[in-house]
Amino acid sequence: MDKIISMANSSVLVMVLMALLGTLAPLTEARAFFVFGDSLVDSGNNNYLVTSARADSPPYGIDYPTHRATGRFSNGLNIPDIISQTIKSESTLPYLSPQLTGKKLLVGANFASAGIGILNDTGIQFLNIIRIYRQLEYFQQYQQKLTALVGAQKARGIVNQALVLITLGGNDFVNNYYLVPNSARSRQFALPNYVRYLISEYQKILMRLYKLGARRVLVTGTGPMGCVPAERAMRSRNGECAAELQQASALFNPQLVQMLQGLNKKFHADVFIAANTHEMHMDFITDPQAFGFTTSKIACCGQGPYNGLGLCTVLSNLCPNRGQYAFWDAFHPSEKANRLIVQQIMTGSTMYMNPMNLSTIMALDSRT
Ligand SMILES: *[C@@H]1O[C@H](CO)[C@@H](O)[C@H](O)[C@H]1NC(C)=O
Ligand SMILES: *[C@@H]1O[C@H](CO)[C@@H](O)[C@H](O)[C@H]1NC(C)=O
Repeated sequence: MDKIISMANSSVLVMVLMALLGTLAPLTEARAFFVFGDSLVDSGNNNYLVTSARADSPPYGIDYPTHRATGRFSNGLNIPDIISQTIKSESTLPYLSPQLTGKKLLVGANFASAGIGILNDTGIQFLNIIRIYRQLEYFQQYQQKLTALVGAQKARGIVNQALVLITLGGNDFVNNYYLVPNSARSRQFALPNYVRYLISEYQKILMRLYKLGARRVLVTGTGPMGCVPAERAMRSRNGECAAELQQASALFNPQLVQMLQGLNKKFHADVFIAANTHEMHMDFITDPQAFGFTTSKIACCGQGPYNGLGLCTVLSNLCPNRGQYAFWDAFHPSEKANRLIVQQIMTGSTMYMNPMNLSTIMALDSRT
């Protein structure tokens, strides 16, 4: 280092060049990206677990670059993949992947696990899945590995400057409160009280994430749970969106935004960014043709009414053109729909992104 500086001293031009390179270098290295949550953002952790919540066999991944099932609950890319593309980074590996070592750690990591929720008792029917507190423990473990690679100070910086995505909540309704009639949670709580309980538990999770060093966190609300093909098939008479689940997201999402605003006030910074994925979905669900879809009601892969019953397997109906379907399977959007969602995350108005969209965040953070 001393040598380089003394050489630079010999020429003003070299010094200027060095200074320029110094400021440009951090910009060319993409920021790390960390992902937490459920199947909407799981990129394959469940492949390594004994669980029924998995997407590691065909036709999942049919439109993925390798045309193989990877554990993503999509015909192709999922939301984290498309965010990675947008921030000019490679996709983050699942935390449980044996390939996540050495320099790959600098890209970030995906801790998400299909089937989990805010509550520890959500998704128990899927057996061995990585519940959110365990995901946070893994995040801590990841930071130890990163520290071993680059040193404590640099590791801290990478985590503080990272982009984080967390997607939770849907399963606390569809795979818990509404899983069976008279579920334990629905006997314990009326819906409005259950939602308040979820929000207070979610707040603890986000505070823990902050404590672990996260400083820019995209928090998605629940999608329109009543409008997914599974719920249209199981809970509505004429295939309209199922009312009680729509009611649940109508209660949950605004309280989530409020809670995030409270946290930002407490931390004196815009740490938590609410992504209104409900609105983002409703745009193409309400007017699928405007977005190039032929249907937003019928899943591409599945069976029964709206292809909404059971799992998506090689035996299911499979649509020939996935780009024409808003839903890939009974619960999960198609890659095309995921692209529309990420587009709004990037450039959406404050109606979609509160207090700001990801392009504004990227511009702000590149200046600091
Ligand atoms: C869920 O489990 C974690 C530890 O695994 C615990 O810290 C947390 O308090 C539990 N949450 C509830 C609501 O019981
Ligand atoms: C992002 O959000 C800002 C503020 O709401 C808005 O002015 C801008 O048009 C949005 N899109 C982009 C690409 O910045």
